[in-house]
Amino acid sequence: MRIPRVFAALALLLAFASCKPAAKEAPAAEGCNLVTNIPGRTTFSLDGDWNYIVDVYETGYYDYRRNPVDWKYTYFQDKSFFADETKLVEYDFAAAPTLKVPGDWNSQKEKLYYYEGTVWYHRAFDFARKPGKRYFVYFGAANYEAIAGLNKQYLGMHVGGFTPFNFEVTDKLLDGENSLIVKVDNKRRLENVPTVNFDWWNYGGLTRSVCIVETPETFIRDYGVQLAKGSATSIKGFVQLDGPDAAGVDVTVSIPELSLTLATRTDVSGRATFEREAAPELWCPENPKLYDVLVSSASDSVRDRIGFRTIETRGSEILLNGKPVYLRGVSVHEEAPVYGAGRAFSDEHAITLLQWAKDMNCNMVRLAHYPHSEAMIRAAEEMGVMVWSEIPVYWTIEWKNPGTYANAENQLVENITRDRNRANIVIWSVANETPVGAEGRVEFLSRLIAKARSLDDTRLVSAAMETKYLDEAKTVMTVNDPDIVSQADLISFNQYVGWYNGGLERASQISWTFDVEKPVFISEFGGGALAGRHGPVDHRFTEEYQAELYRGNIEMLSKIPGLAGTTPWILKDFRSPKRMLYGVQDDYNRKGLVSDKGEKKQAYYVMRDWYGEIAKKNN
Ligand code: GCU
Repeated sequence: MRIPRVFAALALLLAFASCKPAAKEAPAAEGCNLVTNIPGRTTFSLDGDWNYIVDVYETGYYDYRRNPVDWKYTYFQDKSFFADETKLVEYDFAAAPTLKVPGDWNSQKEKLYYYEGTVWYHRAFDFARKPGKRYFVYFGAANYEAIAGLNKQYLGMHVGGFTPFNFEVTDKLLDGENSLIVKVDNKRRLENVPTVNFDWWNYGGLTRSVCIVETPETFIRDYGVQLAKGSATSIKGFVQLDGPDAAGVDVTVSIPELSLTLATRTDVSGRATFEREAAPELWCPENPKLYDVLVSSASDSVRDRIGFRTIETRGSEILLNGKPVYLRGVSVHEEAPVYGAGRAFSDEHAITLLQWAKDMNCNMVRLAHYPHSEAMIRAAEEMGVMVWSEIPVYWTIEWKNPGTYANAENQLVENITRDRNRANIVIWSVANETPVGAEGRVEFLSRLIAKARSLDDTRLVSAAMETKYLDEAKTVMTVNDPDIVSQADLISFNQYVGWYNGGLERASQISWTFDVEKPVFISEFGGGALAGRHGPVDHRFTEEYQAELYRGNIEMLSKIPGLAGTTPWILKDFRSPKRMLYGVQDDYNRKGLVSDKGEKKQAYYVMRDWYGEIAKKNN
């Protein structure tokens, strides 16, 4: 089967296979074919050591014109030189070194520290299928472009480094030995999301868990069980079946602790909806109450732990369960809280990062700038930590490129589909620091905001916006994005008074004003410090400078009428190829309140004390 150019183009469009292709103004689609709640399913882990081949020149897949070569010449054929040394084969996965999955390749192999390109992953595994069952290979995430093949057969392609995807393998999985091969390419490209320029390390690889999911022939692929918008007494949702017997079937959602069983029936598309009066105990940081929920159909049942809460705004207040709440947050990158490590992926990583935030009196985290792992979201839900969840529409995206929009929308759909039942997620963010005035930007972001609301009308939607001065003297600032502020639930923006914007003296010179009444949320502020670097307060990158900057910003921000939340930049120092001040940064953005070695800097305690005061006042 020669792969003609048309096939390559089709392959790219099918990249969004896990969701209905949205290229070229496709009508809004409800959800996608992602199998959700993997922790509640029958799964077989493929984590562990995978053989890998670094393919700098794309020899295993593309010809020199970057056209996919004939499939039978790709490394998906899994040939072996050592099996028959009379044949000329110039690769052999079994003889190749190994990488750990989940994990990025940059922090595992010194030689791959800066590597951006293709790495082939190979996993041989034995399997015994059961009759009447379906099988999916599920990836928690792969950065950035993943093409997968099982037993020499093409499975599909996915782009976007931070959201899950799955391919059905029921007719490709074998009893006995199987070989799963994934070509992962993290090359940065202008049309990508994010594009070529971003301030974090471009960790490549199978960065989250991989497993085989086993389901009945007709199974519960997805469901939503949450309180209806603005109601603390009405549970609303849907169940989506997938399979030959999905239509006209009875399904139930039962919550034993509430002695509640919601019975309903699927329509022709296998979808059932429901709404029912109920009075659950509400989830909140002080009481992260979760209920055991069982979703069942004639042929399948899935267990989950779900919390119920309402989140809305009233004027400049954010209301959690009808009561004003201050979001005492901190921004977090998905980097393991282990010295020298790369991407975070485990429960332990999540719990350590969240505990640092909680010890700083936080009740919320901004997970920047992309969807973090399900482990992180679920740990935060158990620990009573609210979440701002964001997709990497970051800085200068190709606003007018339909493929770029389809990609961004797909990441949003996959993010919401995976996490829609997580009570702790309170804000969907569609972008970070995008340049006001860029052609096509407002349309691009407006469509994303509308998409988020069409998929989930129960949460707040916003973006991290930019600011501007209102006066010549540069003493009055405001948010600089009227078209997006008017559509968003928050006036949320990043500001760096005292770091990129002047020195320590600036905070006392600046005041803020806004021409709309919405909750004001500072999604980033802060400055850098190398832990243990001390000196005169006006010396940058000292702990003294950073702490003083925080004191000044806290004073300035506290004067803002309608201030409803803050997520300083950032919880922990994180790697970035844009940070090359040797002796201070050494490839790390040093704006962490905690160092990459886990040392809490002076500014950490400044934030802890301020949040402690706010918490006391709000209780
Ligand atoms: C920006 C951006 C972050 C970046 C930070 C910084 O605001 O959103 O991704 O790391 O500033 O410069 O440290």
